[in-house]
Amino acid sequence: VTTARHDTASPEETQGLAVDLAAALRGGETIALHGDLGAGKTQFVRGLVRGLGGDERSVSSPTYVLLNVYATPRFSVFHLDAYRVSGPDDFDAIGFTELLDQGGVVVVEWAGRVLDLLPPARIDVTITHAGEGRRVVDVRRTS
Ligand SMILES: Nc1ncnc2c1ncn2[C@@H]1O[C@H](COP(=O)(O)OP(=O)(O)OP(=O)(O)O)[C@@H](O)[C@H]1O
Ligand SMILES: [Mg+2]
Repeated sequence: VTTARHDTASPEETQGLAVDLAAALRGGETIALHGDLGAGKTQFVRGLVRGLGGDERSVSSPTYVLLNVYATPRFSVFHLDAYRVSGPDDFDAIGFTELLDQGGVVVVEWAGRVLDLLPPARIDVTITHAGEGRRVVDVRRTS
């Protein structure tokens, strides 16, 4: 397990952490995003997609559709949002377990709501409000 804690003072800085993380990805990873409404989970995904060479403008919270897929020159990013799911069945319905085997990166907002479905080897990113424009971003990697 490796952990790192970062303080950011803007959305761009939070995205920058994700750009750095993207450089270390090989495909097949699961990234669990934790944090309150407006913490910056979607901002983080934006940085991730940019870091992989994709178009960050296509990134938005898949709150109602559950899943957005972004193509990048490296591999696909499967962006999920568990905020509105009533339970694991909703994720089963969109073929969540199959997504884990596609060689892309699976990134889940509100991951705590579907934690039982996520592989134990994953990257957990927890974003906490720390004042106006500020966030603490904890990255914990198990493998
Ligand atoms: N340091 C920071 N890092 C990230 N976002 C920040 C920061 N400071 C301010 N913000 C603002 O906080 C908001 C974060 O929104 P974002 O959609 O990423 O949150 P979220 O965690 O995905 O919320 P939701 O659970 O509603 O999907 C944006 O408006 C962003 O501009
Ligand atoms: Mg979001």
